[in-house]
Amino acid sequence: MDKINILLLGSGGRESALAWKMSQSELCGKLYIAPGNGGTSQYGTNVALSPLDFDAVKQFALENGVNMVVVGNEDPLVAGIYDYFQAEAPEIPVIGPSKEGARLEGSKDFAKEFMNRHNIPTARHLSVTKDNIEEGYSFLESLKAPYVLKADGLAAGKGVLILPTLDEAKRELGEMLGGMFGASSATVVIEEFLSGIECSVFVLTDGCSYKVLPVAKDYKRIGEGDTGLNTGGMGAVSPVSFADATFMEKVRTRIIEPTVNGLKAENITYRGFIFLGLINVDGDPMVIEYNVRMGDPETEVVMLRIESDLVKLLHGVATQTLGECELAIDPRYAVTVMAVSGGYPGSYPKGKVITGIDTVEGSILFHAGTKVTDDGQLVTSGGRVIAVSSYGNTKDEALATSFANVSRINFDGKYFRRDIGFDLK
Ligand code: AMP
Ligand code: GLY
Repeated sequence: MDKINILLLGSGGRESALAWKMSQSELCGKLYIAPGNGGTSQYGTNVALSPLDFDAVKQFALENGVNMVVVGNEDPLVAGIYDYFQAEAPEIPVIGPSKEGARLEGSKDFAKEFMNRHNIPTARHLSVTKDNIEEGYSFLESLKAPYVLKADGLAAGKGVLILPTLDEAKRELGEMLGGMFGASSATVVIEEFLSGIECSVFVLTDGCSYKVLPVAKDYKRIGEGDTGLNTGGMGAVSPVSFADATFMEKVRTRIIEPTVNGLKAENITYRGFIFLGLINVDGDPMVIEYNVRMGDPETEVVMLRIESDLVKLLHGVATQTLGECELAIDPRYAVTVMAVSGGYPGSYPKGKVITGIDTVEGSILFHAGTKVTDDGQLVTSGGRVIAVSSYGNTKDEALATSFANVSRINFDGKYFRRDIGFDLK
C-alpha cells in the first residue's frame, strides 16, 4: 500500500496523542498538524491554518499531496468539513461524520430524538423554546431534583446546568432561553437526572461495520474528589473496572449497534469516531451524550492501548473496509494526568517557561497548551498544558509513574489532581 500523507486538524493533547500514534504507522507518509502546538512538531510538521477556514485547509491539502484529513475537534465537523471536501475535493477523504451526522453532538435535541427513534436508553427529556416555556415549567415540576438543563447547541462544554431546586431550574431555564449561551441556548433540553458513574466509550465506524476502542474514564472537575468547576478534563484512566464484559455487551447491543444501524437506516453518512458519554445506572448503560470525535484527555490513554496500526484503521474507515481490519488492544493500564495552569478553568497567565521535560522517565508527554517562542523556549499557552501518560500493569503502578513525572515538569502556577482514578477499582 502507498504511504498516506495526513493532515490532522486541532491543537490539543488529543491531537498530540493522535499524531504520536499515527506517526508510528508504516503507512504514515507526511504528517501535518494544523495548527498543532509546542509538542506536535515531534511527530510531523505544524501548519499555521485555522481548521474552520475550509478553503485554506483544502488549498493546503491539494498543494501538499494530502491523502487524508483527520479532524480532532468537533467544530469543523459540526460546520460541515466532511461535506465541503466531498463537494470540493472528493479524492481526499475526511475522517469524521457528515454535517448531518455531526448533529449528534451539535444539537442535543437532535441527539435525543435520534435516540428515541432507535430505542437507545437515555434520560427522559423535553426540548423547550421561548414558545413552549410553560410546558417546560410543567415538565420540570414532573421531575425530581436535581434538574438538568442543556443548551441545544455547542457551548464550549459549558452548556449543561445541574440545579438543586425547582425555583432555580425555572429561573435558569428563562435565562438560557433569553440568550445565556447565545444562539446555542435558543432551544434548551430539560432532562431527568440520572445517577451513576460515567465512562467514555469510543467507536470507530465506516458506516457499515465498527470497532470498539478501549473504554476510558475522565475526571472533569478541577478539585480532588470531583469537586469545583468543570474543566476540559484533568486526567483519564483506561480500562474502567465497572465496564466489564457484561456491561460492554449491553453497551454493544443496546447502544452501539442501534446507533450505527440507525445512522445507516437514516442515510446519515458517518465515517469517523463516535464518542458515547455513558452513565452506569445500576448496571445498565444509558447515554448522557454523543460526541462526534475522540475525547480529551481520554485519547491520551486510548491511543496507548491500541496496538494495531491506527492509520490502517483510518484507511479502512475511508475505504469502507474497516471490517477487514484488525484491532488489537494492549492489556495494560494506561493513565494520564494533566498539568494545568494556575487559575484554570478561570483566567490564568500564559507564557510561563516550562522546564524539566528532559528529566521525565517512563511516561509519554502529550503537549496541549504549549508553544515554542521565537527564541526557542517552551512556554505555556493554554489552561491544560501537558498530559503525562503512562502504562502500568495496574492502575496504581501507571499512576505512580505519571505522578512522579508530573512532579519533574515545572512552570509557574502548575497544578494537577493527585486523585485521578480514585473512584475505580
Ligand atoms: P454533557 O455535556 O451532556 O456531557 O453533560 C455534562 C455533564 O453533566 C455530564 O458529563 C454529566 O456529568 C452531567 N449530566 C448531563 N446530563 C445528565 C443527566 N441526565 N443526569 C445526570 N448528570 C448529567
Ligand atoms: N473528555 C470529555 C470530552 O472530550 O468531551
